Amino acid sequence: MKGRFITLEGPDGSGKTTVATALCKRLEEKGIPVVHTREPGGIEISEDIRKIILDPKNTMMDAKTEALLYAASRRQHLVEKVFPAVQAGKIVICERFLDSSLAYQGYGRQLGFDEVLGINLFAIDNTYPDLTIYLDVDEQVGLDRLSDRQFKDRLDQESIDFHHRVSEGYREVLRRFSDRIKIVDASMSKEEVISACEKLIIDLIND
Ligand code: TYD
Repeated sequence: MKGRFITLEGPDGSGKTTVATALCKRLEEKGIPVVHTREPGGIEISEDIRKIILDPKNTMMDAKTEALLYAASRRQHLVEKVFPAVQAGKIVICERFLDSSLAYQGYGRQLGFDEVLGINLFAIDNTYPDLTIYLDVDEQVGLDRLSDRQFKDRLDQESIDFHHRVSEGYREVLRRFSDRIKIVDASMSKEEVISACEKLIIDLIND
């Protein structure tokens, strides 16, 4: 089987982890070899970088430093985990990737879409995902779920304005990469969302 690299995107509180976990279980039951991973993280070096980025005590972190750390974590995760798995014929399902940086650092931190794309193209050697599924949730629903969280990391603690800009950033991402990204309405029931994602992946595999 040909390996594929699939990313799951969406704002905080859109349900990426729940969907990815259930999706991987369903694909495995069909005998499809899957690897479930996430960014920032997924391997030791990138999990270490994740701790630095998300630690609420790092209030001094500069926006460009943050963007570079996400890109560095991304690079290591790709080389160490994603590329070998895809080459071995597996379906890699990764929570968050490039598009998160474009939305959060490009728009949320206002570093600019093309500037953030530039440093990331260096990090990913122009490797775009084969498919990106965007979990589309009403901005307010996402924010409400976020405010219910017990522990809020450094980005969760950002202002409402920051999260508005992230949503705007995702809208730009959807416009620019309309071929690669498929939108799933995440306000449907969990079952419906998972089935919709599963269908997109099966279609890709059979393509
Ligand atoms: P994640 O673990 O997906 O958090 P959540 O479960 O809240 O969705 O990601 C941690 C945070 O990192 C999240 O607020 C989004 C942010 N992020 C960026 O700002 N840029 C990036 O490139 C990535 C991958 C994540």
